[in-house]
Amino acid sequence: MNLPTRVKIVEVGPRDGLQNEKQVVPAAIKIELIERLAEAGLPAVEATAFVSPKWVPQMGDNTEVLLGIRRKPGVSYPVLVPNLKGFDSAVEAGATEVAIFGAASETFSQKNINCSIAESLKRFDPVVAAASALEIPVRGYVSCVVGCPYEGAVAPEKAAEVAKRLFDMGCYEVSLGDTIGVGTPASISRLIEACARAVPIGKLAGHYHDTYGMAIANVYASLQLGMAVFDSSVAGLGGCPYAQGASGNVATEDVAYLLDGLGIATGINLKALAACGDWISGILQRPNGAKAGRALGAKGS
Ligand code: HMG
Ligand code: MG
Repeated sequence: MNLPTRVKIVEVGPRDGLQNEKQVVPAAIKIELIERLAEAGLPAVEATAFVSPKWVPQMGDNTEVLLGIRRKPGVSYPVLVPNLKGFDSAVEAGATEVAIFGAASETFSQKNINCSIAESLKRFDPVVAAASALEIPVRGYVSCVVGCPYEGAVAPEKAAEVAKRLFDMGCYEVSLGDTIGVGTPASISRLIEACARAVPIGKLAGHYHDTYGMAIANVYASLQLGMAVFDSSVAGLGGCPYAQGASGNVATEDVAYLLDGLGIATGINLKALAACGDWISGILQRPNGAKAGRALGAKGS
């Protein structure tokens, strides 16, 4: 087995996790969450999204959140931008890294960003050009890389094609989103093999939602293929029990525990991370979705 010796975890809880929260989470709590995650050693904390507040009201405080965080040197705070309007607002609020997000499924693209895959790529071009002029790194996402809530199974080649377009456009890394968490180690491995033929494996990240409880197994399968960047949410934040396929991301605590057990460096202080997961679960009044987080909390460690 040829596992990486170091893995980068991109914490997406403050964005991907909280965007699904029905209750309004005050900006001050979001800011504290982001700061605690950075303090716990996460090298990248996705802070918010500059999307339409009509579409995602929970991210409507994006400027307040991004301006409010005390930045830790060496940590990046990417924000989602769907178009040039979002990019301009993000830059005005001090963004130093952005992420564009496309999909491997036409119907999901329409439902999520109100345009076709081809239109979305056309929309991203000027965003990447504007970012490049300001030397702002751009990360790319491909959603529905294994399955789509509307279209069912998605071919690995389709995901690879969109990943390549984003990479060729100038994204420094492309994150493969199993948006509805239907992937298994077999389908995720097929996906990564297809994507790695189009984009270097070192430029790919895994973004696995945990709907079917497969996300941690999918991280392990991806590690075995040489993937070394994973997105995750503290306390497994995210998901709405009423929306099919909207479970949270794999929990950061569980990924950190797995990597620690494999002797793979992450720079994360698991104890501080688990405390942060307990804290935010308490605030949101929901059970902590991180198994390792719950176990560490129960041990009082
Ligand atoms: P649209 O309605 O087609 O946009 O939405 P439009 O250009 O026709 O504009 C309509 C209105 O929206 C206008 O305002 C614009 O100014 C405004 P009005 O004149 O009606 O008052 N508008 C904006 N406002 C704020 N910020 C902007 C912006 N752009 C236009 N950036 C749009 C198109 C893309 C804006 C919309 O569909 C949208 O915001 N979608 C975002 C959906 C979203 O955030 N989804 C969740 C994130 S993706 C995800 O979770 C997946 C991921 O985790 C990976 C995975 O798991 O697979 C990344
Ligand atoms: Mg996601």
